[in-house]
Amino acid sequence: MRIPENKIEEIRSAVNIVDIISEFINLRKRGKNFLGICPFHNEKTPSFTVSEEKQIFHCFGCHSGGNVFKFLMEYEKISFIESVKSVADRLGIQIEFEDQQNPEKQSEQEILYDVNDFAAKYFSDILLNENEGEIGRKYFHRRKIKTQTIRAFGLGFASFKRDAFVEFAKNRIDLEKALQLGLIGKGNEGHLFDKFSGRIIFPIDSPNGRVVGFGGRILEKSEYTAKYLNSPESIIYTKGKVLYGLSHAKDEIRRLTKVIMVEGYMDLISLFQNGIKNVVAVSGTALTEDQVSLLSRYTKNVVLLFDADIAGVKASMRSIEILLRKDFEIKIASLPKGEDPDSYVNQFGREKFDDLIKLSVSFHEYQTALYEAEGYFTDSSRSAEAIRNLVKSLSFMEDELKRNFYIKNISKRFGLREKLLESELDKILMKENRQDKSPKEKTQSYKVFPNKEIKITPEVQFLERDIILLFLSGNIDLIKFIFNHISPKDLIIELNRKTAELVFEEINNKNSFEVASVIDKIDDEELKEYLHKLSIDKYSISSSWEKLYPGKDNYSVLSKVCMDTMKKFRTVQIDNQINDILVQVKDATSEDQGVELLHILNQYHADKKRLNEEFI
Ligand code: CTP
Ligand code: MN
Repeated sequence: MRIPENKIEEIRSAVNIVDIISEFINLRKRGKNFLGICPFHNEKTPSFTVSEEKQIFHCFGCHSGGNVFKFLMEYEKISFIESVKSVADRLGIQIEFEDQQNPEKQSEQEILYDVNDFAAKYFSDILLNENEGEIGRKYFHRRKIKTQTIRAFGLGFASFKRDAFVEFAKNRIDLEKALQLGLIGKGNEGHLFDKFSGRIIFPIDSPNGRVVGFGGRILEKSEYTAKYLNSPESIIYTKGKVLYGLSHAKDEIRRLTKVIMVEGYMDLISLFQNGIKNVVAVSGTALTEDQVSLLSRYTKNVVLLFDADIAGVKASMRSIEILLRKDFEIKIASLPKGEDPDSYVNQFGREKFDDLIKLSVSFHEYQTALYEAEGYFTDSSRSAEAIRNLVKSLSFMEDELKRNFYIKNISKRFGLREKLLESELDKILMKENRQDKSPKEKTQSYKVFPNKEIKITPEVQFLERDIILLFLSGNIDLIKFIFNHISPKDLIIELNRKTAELVFEEINNKNSFEVASVIDKIDDEELKEYLHKLSIDKYSISSSWEKLYPGKDNYSVLSKVCMDTMKKFRTVQIDNQINDILVQVKDATSEDQGVELLHILNQYHADKKRLNEEFI
């Protein structure tokens, strides 16, 4: 079922998000916004903020956020369509559903999602209902997985016939898309075949619960095929950006403000079935920075629970570094030798499992114990190596106080002077070129596009931010004015550029822009959060403007800010280009080249002059 987009927009703009949220939560007016206790995580002081003006909510504690539909989806655990219906019901608006025979309006991504949904349903149907699924049902029975769990995770089974899916799908979906998604393959003679045949199927979801890919496990151990086959990357699936199970676990992670990280699909599923639902699985690949960023939207407390084998230990060590860099609190739980979370919980049950988690230790203790177990502290040179490694891990932490705590710990435990350890740490930090700076000096790191060497001065940061804030004002004249002078790719901070691209597209397609209306359609979680935050933040425009025109963002002030921002932005741009040319002039190898460059230089100066005349 699909509700026409303009209908969704009509419903969204007819309701006030403050009214809806107030049905569930006590909100109090604070300045422009409303504030309350967040329903999505445990907190005592309110950080859940609702902007009436922008029709957006955002929690500064757990980073949840979105428009009115998103709120209902998360609060009432309902689907997007259901949330739209629920608002429409309150308003007495009738919804007529669009029929599905309208594919040209679907984006490429939507089409791929639909193909994955189609396949997921097909595999699940075989497992649950078909004769050939019997073997799959037996398999899960043997592994103590209940039907209810199979349904919850949409698990499936692919027929052994090499072209069962191809045959079933050929008149129903575009097989090119299935090929693109790695559901089917093409042989040398051009014949199509199923990629997952004979495998147990684990659909892999995006954090929003859409199927982006599949993992397929063979039934029996085999020397000839890998145990797991995973979907290749596609425009909807990037391995290093997905955490298996997150869509199922995110509410519980927020509620318990803690996540347990396991390796495998089956580990996560078995824990879930036993009532442990704040779990994600890295599933095979080494933990990536993107995965950690994704997770940090829900919590920064993690318990690593990797398999009790050498690979598991290595995975823990690698993960520690990445997690520390993102300021996570890390605990590590250890399983008895040869066990994984799935085997453990099925054998010993929930209580024993909880005990095991309670016994988890800090990453520092874990590392120390590991070196101890490997006999590092029995001779002096290896002992020094181990201590150096321990100190090195501390260097990944940004927080000096935390580092200090651990330094004291090492000092006490090994009877070493703190000063000595500190100087060792300083050496490492120096090498990494990030000696302690006062917070003011610390330049924030931004992802920059496309040229990593572009310097991002605070001025550029502020100018770009003001441009984004002007976009968020939703004022169509100002937005058009901006795009008359710059294009999205002129913004160099990645999130700003992505925002500008989005606004540009909306303006071109709909001649309007409102965050609350586009936010459902954005897949990029980081971008979404950025927009919520900026929409809701106290400041509306640069502090200097606030001082001149306190509290006013009426049109006349905004248009002054807009003119001023554009002028400054263009000036900085031209100055950068001029500097570029000046460097090239110095390096010029021939007179011709020099003359040519000077010519360009003159043009830039002329541009600057024009700019000064245009904006007074
Ligand atoms: N994995 C993979 N490809 C492989 C092996 C493993 O992608 N060839 C991933 C899978 O996501 C798997 C995880 O790594 O779930 C952990 O691997 P492993 O411990 O070998 O499998 P289990 O999850 O324990 O699976 P099972 O219990 O069914 O053997
Ligand atoms: Mn296992």
